[in-house]
Amino acid sequence: MDSATAAGRTLAGRHILLGITGSIAAYKAAMLCRLLKTAGAEVQVVMTPLAKQFITPLTMATLSKNPILVEFFNPENGAWNSHVSLGEWADCYVIAPATANTLAKMATGVADNLLLTTYLSARCPVVVAPAMDLDMYAHPATQQNLRTLVERGVRIVEPGDGELASGLSGKGRMAEPGEIAAFVGRLLDGQDEKKKTLTGKRLIVTAGATIEAIDPVRFISNHSSGKMGYAIAGELAARGAEVTLVSGRTALPVPPGVERVDVLSADEMYDATVAAFDKADGAVMCAAVADYTPESVSETKLKKGDGELFIRLRRTRDIAAELGRRKGERILVGFALETDHEEAHAQSKLEKKNFDFIVLNSLRDAGAGFRGDTNKVTFIDRTGDEALPLLSKQEVAERIADRIERLFAR
Ligand code: PMT
Repeated sequence: MDSATAAGRTLAGRHILLGITGSIAAYKAAMLCRLLKTAGAEVQVVMTPLAKQFITPLTMATLSKNPILVEFFNPENGAWNSHVSLGEWADCYVIAPATANTLAKMATGVADNLLLTTYLSARCPVVVAPAMDLDMYAHPATQQNLRTLVERGVRIVEPGDGELASGLSGKGRMAEPGEIAAFVGRLLDGQDEKKKTLTGKRLIVTAGATIEAIDPVRFISNHSSGKMGYAIAGELAARGAEVTLVSGRTALPVPPGVERVDVLSADEMYDATVAAFDKADGAVMCAAVADYTPESVSETKLKKGDGELFIRLRRTRDIAAELGRRKGERILVGFALETDHEEAHAQSKLEKKNFDFIVLNSLRDAGAGFRGDTNKVTFIDRTGDEALPLLSKQEVAERIADRIERLFAR
């Protein structure tokens, strides 16, 4: 099935607002508009003043079958182009191509044209397809702006690698129109009531950091906030699974439909998870579990002495490895948080812990790992790797749930 057909399933009758900014890739917006129309969507085009230099309003009006909006009002008759009602009308706002300039303005809330005021008013999902020179794309300022937008829920259709208008070659070419149309189709499909594809499945998710007491006052822990694991638990429950979330201490609310078991230490997490696994169909091991814990916990607060203090640590039990030994036909998904030799370490954990697949995140990637609302992960299984772009943790959770569904369908 081609991408336009795939998009057509979910785009019929949808209201798509297509934003075009001043980039040479604007010519591809004509094809994107045509694909959206062919798929049955109603398309309204908003252009920045500069975009008109790259593609004519006449072309876009003819293809979209709607007048093009550029200015805040029509100078001929004073009619007001309401960014608020455009934002309310749209089921999805797709900005393609999105220049570095427009992305920067979106990230900082600048509202100096109709395309941007509409973005600030939009209540619908927003998708951007960046297009620019490779150095502009790679620049830390642009990357920071993209991370800010992803954190706020904007979806990015990553640019491709190839020949650029500058004559250079690299990452920055706007994604192809078919890819963007298919992305919008999938996005709108996922916005509909979640299909209960995991009904009848019992799944465990571990999340957050463990806390290993040294004395009544101090402990050893790590930076995990629980956000990644909670997003996974929420997504699995939304798809109909019965989810037990074994969670370290966090301030996050329990996702709807999820049963939470609170634990503190690695030993407590081990006991709760292994007990729940008896009745489970699978588990996702997202928690950042301490590998070492103090050999003994002082009953009273340790007092400062003159010299150094040595605390003897013992190994904790490995929860994932134990589930891997017991799993049989059940599904086991692991995580690997690495700082170096990422691929090799993740591969070794995949085998040692008998995971069906492992989700690798590296602290060397900006926007990946602890605390933030985004992650950049690579799925690794025995057939190969799939590297995903920077996504929100919710989107990563959806991709993990998609893989789990496929594993159950084997
Ligand atoms: O919570 P956030 O702030 O959103 O951050 C998310 C995250 C960075 C914590 C998450 O994406 C992540 O990477 N979790 C795994 C962290 C980790 O401890 O990885 P590891 O490489 O040390 O462990 C490998 C696997 O074994 C993991 O699935 C881990 O849960 C599991 N494990 C490890 C030790 C142990 N004693 N028992 C375990 O089950």
